[in-house]
Amino acid sequence: MLTTMIRNLSSMDVAIDLGTSKTAVFIKGEGLVYEEPSVISFRDNGYRKTILAIGHEAFKIKGKEPVGVATVRPLQGGVIDQLEATKLMLREIARRTRIGRFLKKPRVLIGAPFSISDVERRAVMDAVSVFDSSSVAIVEEPLAAAIGADIDISESVANMVVDIGSGITEAVVISLGGIVHSESIRVGGDAITDSLVSYFRNHCNLIVGERTVEGLKPRLCDVFGQAEDILIVKGIDVNSYLPQTRKVRSCEVREAILGPVSAIIRTIRLMLENTPPILSGDLIDRGIILTGGSALLQNLGGLIEHSFGVPVRIAKDSAGATLRGTSCMLDAINVIHG
Ligand SMILES: Nc1ncnc2c1ncn2[C@@H]1O[C@H](COP(=O)(O)OP(=O)(O)OP(=O)(O)O)[C@@H](O)[C@H]1O
Ligand SMILES: [Mg+2]
Repeated sequence: MLTTMIRNLSSMDVAIDLGTSKTAVFIKGEGLVYEEPSVISFRDNGYRKTILAIGHEAFKIKGKEPVGVATVRPLQGGVIDQLEATKLMLREIARRTRIGRFLKKPRVLIGAPFSISDVERRAVMDAVSVFDSSSVAIVEEPLAAAIGADIDISESVANMVVDIGSGITEAVVISLGGIVHSESIRVGGDAITDSLVSYFRNHCNLIVGERTVEGLKPRLCDVFGQAEDILIVKGIDVNSYLPQTRKVRSCEVREAILGPVSAIIRTIRLMLENTPPILSGDLIDRGIILTGGSALLQNLGGLIEHSFGVPVRIAKDSAGATLRGTSCMLDAINVIHG
């Protein structure tokens, strides 16, 4: 009892989802304290980097930087691509959220893809060192997402979760609290955005920025729609550099994003094909649970159901599932950290 009280006074339990597109932080007892794009803008004079902005503010600067200022997304494909920039971003997040304030040394749980290499895992540990935490543990993102999707992962029944984020898609079969089999591909919402930007440029002679396409995706990308809608897209004409609009048919959009969408479907197929037969029956009964922001692609659930004949459910607030699950795991932190 006394030990628990002293521990509560001197520590702070923190859950982090360090995603390719957004970083979110939860502090036990306070709730969600930070949720912004994983973007950092810094001045680099050759020997020292100074932070100018992170998150939404950095997004606004992107593309308008003077010489000597860089705006980067330090994570790509679900993993840390630029370690120094990631550490700078996390240090600034720690300052804003006052992680580690007073004598409260944080105990950190951070999500990372199941499929990362040892080198990528070490980069996560190195990045988190900026929090000066008393302990750090990495949790597998698809497992956390499953908990965040209200699945009881401890059951002896197989559950299949497909976490489709911005940079990575991971399909896992979970049974008795652990991952039994997994397939992953470093394709997600970013690849879909890139495909659309290229399509507008190459087929419509229209320059449409990444941010605009991100905003259009929810109504533009119906991956399994039957109706043939005409959509209006605004951009800059590649020849005249004047603002223009183009009409795009929904079947053209489907064609444009076929590459990344097929890659996601292929990953799920591999998962189903390689699931041990003893668990396959559970999957047919329980279906597939989709988590991650890209699970919200219009009619993706319908396409998966049509492709495999297995029911599909999209988790509530699918993009928040990983952080929600990691936050729930904080309750077991004494067990994890000893
Ligand atoms: N309604 C929507 N329709 C289509 N795509 C969407 C929608 N809402 C969000 N997205 C996409 O979801 C992605 C972000 O998802 P999420 O927050 O799960 O990614 P992340 O956790 O940062 O990335 P990762 O897990 O791959 O590192 C973005 O690519 C975004 O465009
Ligand atoms: Mg994610």
